[in-house]
Amino acid sequence: MQDEWTEKYRPKSLAEVIGNDHAVRSIRRWADSWARGTPRLKALVLRGEPGTGKTSASLALANDMGWDFIEMNASDHRNAASIKKVAGAGAVTQTFTPDGDFLSSVEGKRKLVIIDEADNLFGNEDRGGAKAIVDTIRDSGQPIVLIVNDYRELTRKASAIKTLAERVVFKRLDPKSIVSVLESIASKEQVRVDSDVLTKIAENCGGDMRAAVNDLQMMVEGKVEIGLTDSDAMGKRNQLKELNDSLRAMFGAKTLKSARDATLDIDRSPDELEKWIEEGIPLEFRHAGDMEEAFEALARADIYLGWTRRSQNYGLWAYAKDMMTGGVALSRKHGPRPDVQEYRFPSHIMMLSRAKGPRAARDSISRKLEGHLHMSRRAINASVLPLLTSITRNDSELLVNLGAKCGLDEDDIGFLVGADPDSKQVLEIVSKIKAELGEDHDDEPTGRRSSKSKDGKRSLKDF
Ligand SMILES: Nc1ncnc2c1ncn2[C@@H]1O[C@H](COP(=O)(O)OP(=O)(O)O)[C@@H](O)[C@H]1O
Ligand SMILES: [Mg+2]
Repeated sequence: MQDEWTEKYRPKSLAEVIGNDHAVRSIRRWADSWARGTPRLKALVLRGEPGTGKTSASLALANDMGWDFIEMNASDHRNAASIKKVAGAGAVTQTFTPDGDFLSSVEGKRKLVIIDEADNLFGNEDRGGAKAIVDTIRDSGQPIVLIVNDYRELTRKASAIKTLAERVVFKRLDPKSIVSVLESIASKEQVRVDSDVLTKIAENCGGDMRAAVNDLQMMVEGKVEIGLTDSDAMGKRNQLKELNDSLRAMFGAKTLKSARDATLDIDRSPDELEKWIEEGIPLEFRHAGDMEEAFEALARADIYLGWTRRSQNYGLWAYAKDMMTGGVALSRKHGPRPDVQEYRFPSHIMMLSRAKGPRAARDSISRKLEGHLHMSRRAINASVLPLLTSITRNDSELLVNLGAKCGLDEDDIGFLVGADPDSKQVLEIVSKIKAELGEDHDDEPTGRRSSKSKDGKRSLKDF
């Protein structure tokens, strides 16, 4: 895919540069010093391992300050000339184009000069490059950022830089910071990735955020399998079994207290627990009204969770938990209770799913059905969907016909059959739907299908 997440989610502001707080503060302080005229140190050297946010921080800085910027890669031969031009033209008090050509000076607007890979000056031979940089700093009336992996290599070639530039170190990022960035990307991409997988990615990337973001993107786009080792997988399976047992006890609880107690040992964040319960409701409830009520209890829990997050008042968690456990369990007024073996998110070790949440899936399906059924969406949610989920689970022919008529996609089908949208089962149904749609255009006899309605296909109204 062309759109690389590392570019798409590059921090726009220094405030979005995660980790390295000390470095970010130094950069801000240096930038502020330009407000009072040209400071003593006109250049900053950002030094650190790849993928820690050096380039991002430079670009974000220009953005925050409202400065223009010019970005040059010093290792690229083609830029040698423009860096020299910048230096050779004397005082860099004017603005210049990205090619290094000067524009007539634009009053007041600063231009940040970003020289990336400054330790890699045009290969090793050309010492002129080092001189060009030193001259640029000396003559410049503009702020300059040099970016290096290896500070010693830079100062070996241009020792004057030691006294001309302030040094800022970017450290490798810790897994926690990396997970937080991955989480926010996953949520913006609307994909769910189990937190264990994010942790795994974060631990394996050696503090390199670029690598981590790339790993996540490749994984989500299905290009690589995640590397959980066997022992991880085993621990994971045990955890899953405990979680399944707790959820089963919770859904079966008859009192608020027993519902709450059943989830006490679940070692998941309230947000993640909510997702599990959300996935469990369609499996656990067969009665339309009960299911509706359970979703409403969960919606209330969700409101409390939102308040908790916003107010940082973790006392509210208790209410959220009561709602999502007791509120949901006690919604069951009509039996019998189905025997759920396994709850769905994440249902297997490859804990990655492109599924929309069940609520979104329900809404998507009912929106597609409403025109065909002449019923309100709410009524479809309440009375048709629960029925449909149980019928279609055993009747894929109906599902194919319905899918072809109403334009159901893999998320919808996944929801109806209770499987992952990426699963083989769902993909098979989707490909049958496509075949069906292809057939609809020519007049092939449809009689070979078990036919009930006029066009030879069974439809919703047959039930
Ligand atoms: N500290 C950070 N906070 C948020 N995202 C980051 C951070 N560091 C790196 N990234 C992500 O990794 C990508 C590459 O980072 P970059 O700033 O180019 O690293 P560097 O210049 O240090 O090699 C960015 O586009 C961004 O997606
Ligand atoms: Mg960089």
